[in-house]
Amino acid sequence: MKVVDIETEKVAVMTWPAVRLCTGASMPLLGLGTWLARQNECYQAVKTGLSMGYRLIDTAEYYQNEREVGRALVEKFTTGLRREDVFVTSKLWNTRHHPDDVLPACERSLRDLGLDYLDLYLMHFPVAYARGNNFNPFKVNGQADTLDIHFMETWKVMEKLVDAGLVKAIGVSSFNISQLEEVLTNGRIKPAVNQVECHPYLGCHRLLKYCTAKDIVLTAFCPLARPGAKGPEQFGLGSVVEDPEIMEISKKHGKTPAQVCLKWNIQRNVVVIPGIAPPTWIKENSQIFDFELSKDDMSAINDLERNGRLVRFEPCKTHPNWPYGEEF
Ligand SMILES: NC(=O)c1ccc[n+]([C@@H]2O[C@H](COP(=O)([O-])OP(=O)(O)OC[C@H]3O[C@@H](n4cnc5c(N)ncnc54)[C@H](OP(=O)(O)O)[C@@H]3O)[C@@H](O)[C@H]2O)c1
Repeated sequence: MKVVDIETEKVAVMTWPAVRLCTGASMPLLGLGTWLARQNECYQAVKTGLSMGYRLIDTAEYYQNEREVGRALVEKFTTGLRREDVFVTSKLWNTRHHPDDVLPACERSLRDLGLDYLDLYLMHFPVAYARGNNFNPFKVNGQADTLDIHFMETWKVMEKLVDAGLVKAIGVSSFNISQLEEVLTNGRIKPAVNQVECHPYLGCHRLLKYCTAKDIVLTAFCPLARPGAKGPEQFGLGSVVEDPEIMEISKKHGKTPAQVCLKWNIQRNVVVIPGIAPPTWIKENSQIFDFELSKDDMSAINDLERNGRLVRFEPCKTHPNWPYGEEF
């Protein structure tokens, strides 16, 4: 597929592969993550990404940037991009799990994004936090103020969003295998996607095998293991883009370590959504469809596994639905 920037009429990219969801819809294998991107930075980056050929945008109520994402989308729609050309994901935050809060949260995201449907709506995390607009309701002792609502109660209301045509597909995020089993057994609509942290230091090999068998698409968040300042050092992990093995492989292919990390997941049919960065990096991250990692490259990267989890939702660690007690 050739992707043309409608404004400049320049052909931006060669091939942008997609995966098929269990709903039959196509989801691009590469997208733009928007966490921590606020206001003008977010608006500019989404516009830049769309111009470069990105057709998957990942946002969430929690990121507090849906209006900026929407501003960029609406502007692109007025210059020729069609709604059906873009795949938009948003997420239901932990404070919105109460059955009465699900529909209003989805409607608010749609309103802020300026859309009349979402391509995918994810439950952001399996643990419900106390209701309200305090997104991180931690008690003084550092524990999250959780709500006694099981994720299946929330899921059943999310199913109604599909029935109402507000979302084309629903899915989950950071669910372990046992939790996915529960949704598959007790739900009416199966999750199309499980979005989880996944990069060469946290390959999620067991979870990927399970999801593939169940026709659930895995999406990798933090696909570069956050190389910036807020990144891996705090957990004693090295930077994945400075890993000697990854650097060696990238030299061999004339690519950057970041491109190799993204390509490794894409070759495993895992969707990647690297986070917003300066335009040169947004472009670099998109130039990954003109080379192929060999079987040996793939297994060398698989061998870098070290359970290197960066996103842990620690304040609710003692909650029975905290997902990371089980291997991913
Ligand atoms: N479902 C969830 O719970 C969840 C959790 C976290 C994230 N997410 C989603 O996943 C997306 C990606 O995760 P993330 O942003 O946390 O982590 P990430 O994609 O691993 O790291 C993003 C950071 O990497 C740096 N970077 C980007 N391109 C680069 C390149 N080519 N070379 C070197 N460094 C590069 C930039 O950092 P600097 O500019 O700071 O240097 C950028 O901010 C988020 O934006 C969000 O949409 C979802």
